[in-house]
Amino acid sequence: MDFRIDEEHQELIDLYREFAQNEVKPIAAEIDETERFPMENVKKMAEMGLLGIPFPEEYGGAGMDTLSYVQCIEELSKVCASTGVIVSAHTSLCATPIYMFGTEEQKQKYLVPLATGEKLGAFGLTEPSAGTDSSQQKTTAVLVDDDHWVLNGSKIFITNAGAADIFFILAMTDKSLGNKGISAFIVEKGMPGFSIGKHENKMGIRASSTCELIFEDCIVPKENLVGEIGKGFKYAMMTLDGGRIGIAAQALGIAEGAIEETVKYVQERTQFGRRISQFQNTQFELAKMQANTEAAKLLVYQAACAKDNHEKYTHLAAMAKLVAANNASDVTRRCLQLFGGYGYTKDYPIERMMRDAKITEIYEGTSEVQMMVISGWMGVK
Ligand code: CAA
Repeated sequence: MDFRIDEEHQELIDLYREFAQNEVKPIAAEIDETERFPMENVKKMAEMGLLGIPFPEEYGGAGMDTLSYVQCIEELSKVCASTGVIVSAHTSLCATPIYMFGTEEQKQKYLVPLATGEKLGAFGLTEPSAGTDSSQQKTTAVLVDDDHWVLNGSKIFITNAGAADIFFILAMTDKSLGNKGISAFIVEKGMPGFSIGKHENKMGIRASSTCELIFEDCIVPKENLVGEIGKGFKYAMMTLDGGRIGIAAQALGIAEGAIEETVKYVQERTQFGRRISQFQNTQFELAKMQANTEAAKLLVYQAACAKDNHEKYTHLAAMAKLVAANNASDVTRRCLQLFGGYGYTKDYPIERMMRDAKITEIYEGTSEVQMMVISGWMGVK
């Protein structure tokens, strides 16, 4: 067991950090305030290879591992959780299932432009009546004339929706089979009958585009079915296992970013004739936060390494997300308290970080879902 970060990973962390500090941090407050999708930074990340970190070079990726990928999400999320989730949803939820379950033709056609960052990806599972109970899909896909699929229905809360070109979509191909009647499809922006609906005005991660997807007799080529018919639910669950490590890394980054900002602030702010960093309450608060954040980091890295080593990691991803998300909410709330009234204003990033942290307890499976997964793995029934 070796808890040290090797040179190759450290060099990449430095690169991710430099980009995050120089390009992402300066616009983080503005894009939050205006809900502006940071396309200029998405393009820069594409040029740097950050949109295909864990994929082989033959598919346009950087040929790195999951650990390096989550370290990128972590560094981005320290300064801007919106940018973190844009990369996470693109990589974990769209490019990865095409890499895992797609044919060679699908990989050449869709994974390559996703991994190079020429195209942006999104994932469509959630529906108005299929949130946590994700097997209750109402969107249908019917094969017509053995030639093309016709999709009808809608998806909600889809990350990257307004900016994405390629969508990994789950739909019901045989209602009578329950979750075994769900199949997976690749849908492209511009396919007939496919449109983007309501844009959500959110509490946090406001610069990431979250919208509804609408399918009205949407025509999808027959060859865009991914993998085997009826295996879509399994593919979605396996995809989310990986996605949850990405969101855990986002939560980790938010907590680390908040602590960094707070350590700076408490050394500048004086009250009662002393820097507030000199009060034991401040020191103990920050010490607890640092220790808990380090614990979350070990879980996140452990889950990433287990995935890289092709070990079972469903429960590890769930534990990492449960702990890191809870910690992000706790840490940002405590940090804001140390900032006092100033923390409640938009003059400092801490209120944004607190708003951003909350979603990590909700999307890609609520904390309660993570506990269902963990207790199921423990055999507690
Ligand atoms: N890997 C492989 N297979 C899995 C699996 C996994 N991780 N989890 C479940 N399965 C399989 C089971 O083995 C089972 O297969 P069999 O029928 O062959 O035995 C099948 O799937 C059904 O499993 P369950 O009975 O456990 O399924 P369930 O209907 O009871 O649901 C659940 C379990 C954990 C609640 C699941 O529905 C779930 O994870 N819900 C949350 C969904 C979620 O995370 N949504 C977020 C969407 S993305 C997003 O947030 C937005 C974004 O863009 C960022």
